[in-house]
Amino acid sequence: MRVSLRCGIALSFVALVVACGGATSEPAAVKTCAEDPSQPKCVTITPAIDSGLRFYAARNGRFVGTALDAAFGATTAYDGLVSREFSIITAANAQKWQTIHPTRTTYNYTRADAMLAFAQANGMKMRGHTLAWQNQNPAWLTGGGYPADTLAQILKDHITTVLTHYKGTIYAWDVVNEAFNANGSIAPTIWSNALGRGYIETAFRAARAADPAALLFYNDYNLEFTGAKQDSAFVLVQDFKARGVPIDGIGFQAHFQINADGTGVPSKSSLTSTFQRFAALGVKIHITELDIRVRTPGATPSELSAQTQAYADIVGACVAVPACEVITVWGVTDTESWVPSTFPGYGSALLFDGALAKKAAWAAVKAALGG
Ligand code: XIL
Repeated sequence: MRVSLRCGIALSFVALVVACGGATSEPAAVKTCAEDPSQPKCVTITPAIDSGLRFYAARNGRFVGTALDAAFGATTAYDGLVSREFSIITAANAQKWQTIHPTRTTYNYTRADAMLAFAQANGMKMRGHTLAWQNQNPAWLTGGGYPADTLAQILKDHITTVLTHYKGTIYAWDVVNEAFNANGSIAPTIWSNALGRGYIETAFRAARAADPAALLFYNDYNLEFTGAKQDSAFVLVQDFKARGVPIDGIGFQAHFQINADGTGVPSKSSLTSTFQRFAALGVKIHITELDIRVRTPGATPSELSAQTQAYADIVGACVAVPACEVITVWGVTDTESWVPSTFPGYGSALLFDGALAKKAAWAAVKAALGG
């Protein structure tokens, strides 16, 4: 029986705060975190971190996360901030095929294991990212010229090996990443080109078999906007649910851009409706890679205030929908963000500046979490 309460317990200097965000179709026999704080999905926040975002998230029964990359482990200031502010982490790159499966016969878990140990030592969870994607694959895979049946076996073996290594430790896996084009068709990838859309089901079944306790997610960008791509992800989840293919959640990457004309970010009400649409299928919702970029240099005051408001709206939409339990931002500081190199002319997309100082967006997130 799967226990899927979204609960948080926060111990502050003055009070014991118990927060449960409500259950989504759980069996009645499951205890709440207040009744049984030892459940694996209850979070205990220590007094030392009661001013971080994770404290406010826990009061809402939510996790707030970040993605770790090269800056992790480099300074105690950075690592200390991560453990104060966040209750769940993702490896930005360390669990991608290129890093974790560098040759056909070898796996390298060193960096991701260090992140997991850090998470465990600080009462944080870890999301796994990612098991089937088009990008950041090793040359042995992309240039191997393997026939379809061999590729299917390589995919299953990778998932089985990695999830067995992490069995019982990863809260949720992004099993398949970015499978759809903007028009809703299946994106051409090393997997779909050889195996058709069936590779998605193959990947989810292999993941469930290897670690039955991990929540399994489909993860993509631009699902936050209504349209053909969102519809294809919806049909995928609907079909998996109808046929009993294992899937537990949908990851909304949430990479947004503030445009001069005010577009680029869904409104709070539209995003709330989108989350409700997927929640009605009985899956959890994670915001997996949130960042909101502005023009750099030269963002106008109104663009900057639109960015702050957008952070409030995205977090507010999650808080409004019980099935939405994780809000992960894609990196800690603007300096380490992938945005400036990927979207030239844009940046300043995260909650902290390069000096680890909180930005207005941090306060907006805190307020949206009720802090
Ligand atoms: C990005 C990383 O942040 C970069 O460091 C890397 O160079 C490229 O990938 N969608 C995803 C993430 O699912 O894995 C990507 O991460 C950002 C887009």
